[in-house]
Amino acid sequence: KQGFPYWIMIYSNYVPHILKGNLRGIDVYEGQGGYQQLKNCMEMKPEHIVDTVKRSGLRGRGGAGFPTGLKWSFIAKPEGKPRYLACNGDESEPGTFKDRQIFEQNPHLLIEGCLIAAYALGLTACYIYIRGEYLKWIKMVEKAVAEAYQKKYVGKNILGSGFSTEIIIHRGAGAYICGEETGLINSIEGKRPYPRIKPPFPAQVGLWGCPTIINNVETLSNIPVIMQLGAEAYSKIGAPDHPGPLLYGISGHVNKPGVYELPTGMKITDLIHDVAGGVKDGKKVKAVIPGGSSMPILRGDQLDGVTMNTDSLKKAGTLIGTAGLIVMDEDTDIVEVVGRLSHFYHHESCGQCTPCREGTGWVELIYQKFLRNEATKRDIDLLLDICRQMEGKTICALADGAAWAYKFSIERFREEYEKHCQGNELQPGEWDYKTKA
Ligand code: NAI
Ligand code: SF4
Repeated sequence: KQGFPYWIMIYSNYVPHILKGNLRGIDVYEGQGGYQQLKNCMEMKPEHIVDTVKRSGLRGRGGAGFPTGLKWSFIAKPEGKPRYLACNGDESEPGTFKDRQIFEQNPHLLIEGCLIAAYALGLTACYIYIRGEYLKWIKMVEKAVAEAYQKKYVGKNILGSGFSTEIIIHRGAGAYICGEETGLINSIEGKRPYPRIKPPFPAQVGLWGCPTIINNVETLSNIPVIMQLGAEAYSKIGAPDHPGPLLYGISGHVNKPGVYELPTGMKITDLIHDVAGGVKDGKKVKAVIPGGSSMPILRGDQLDGVTMNTDSLKKAGTLIGTAGLIVMDEDTDIVEVVGRLSHFYHHESCGQCTPCREGTGWVELIYQKFLRNEATKRDIDLLLDICRQMEGKTICALADGAAWAYKFSIERFREEYEKHCQGNELQPGEWDYKTKA
């Protein structure tokens, strides 16, 4: 993934808003109108900004797609308690690598988005939580924050407005679960990143027991764009149910893998064939996971007319997630792919909940059995049974995401599993010793 190029597409007259080229230095950013939206916002009533974000239709870009303005409006305002922003840049979902492009190309857009959110919601500090392995990008964002402090966009009495807020960069602790919002809160507080039970949601009880808004990097980078274009114009970009510019991370068996900025609502087939240069060696598409590994997999023959927005993907039986498309060609062994994912989820389970801790472990053993071609058809049903026992029964969504990866791959590619079972039929009542592998 480290070597992936990024691409800014001029597609259907679309003008890029997030990745406009390299705007890493503050002077270059200011030269292109940067921090002007922060200045404008400071002349507005905070409620007006929240209302504009609500009307824009912006949905979170971190995976869950929750309406951002609505989330902002949930923030509790208890007397005498500070409120915080945590910007989630942990991006550890397999197939997701778009936030780092913002860190690299346009960190000031993210900082400006954080500052506008802080002003609109009266926040004392913003924590930018960056994936621990992203050292290069952490340094870039640290440099950008230092520049913003120097120019008095951050700190005490910002631009003489009387409003003050701080920005703190927090290096991630190197685990997938740090990106789960309540795990992230614990991690910033210096604890193990164990997810917490919700409710209470972080908007009520977050960092150090205070109300905290948690937004993804790309989500916050959309805020200055909304303030510049206005809610109405923004809501007309892309699909009406999920509007705005979107960073599509396309990986797998395509000729030009990378991060592409385009409007939401693009056809999956156009993304594969036109944008990412088609499937390698002219092969057919066997499967696509549309939004990071936890989203339900689609068969190649299910893709016709499916577009990258909530409604269309729901109809097709999946979700947009992080818009990180993983494309697999006709030669891919789906059982092998999901088997690798089973190792990932087992390794990354924090172990608090029995169905997740035990379920991910047993599933990994069963996949190993499939990959040794020692499984029987009964193991397919056993996998589905374990999924039923994991889904909806745990503190956080890791177990759900894992169960979806197994369950939907079986539902949609059962024949691939059966191929691994050939010649291994059990007699009724026979003890399947191999399950103990
Ligand atoms: P969620 O649907 O539980 O919550 C979404 C957001 O809305 C959260 O911030 C939550 O606090 C807020 N919210 C929901 N109802 C609320 C209420 N009544 N009051 C106040 N706030 C409320 O989803 P979650 O667990 O935050 O995220 C799961 C998603 O994360 C998965 O779909 C997956 O795609 C994605 N993910 C992304 C990763 C990445 O690398 N970007 C890594 C792992 C997962
Ligand atoms: Fe930890 Fe898994 Fe429970 Fe999430 S579902 S809290 S990762 S054990």
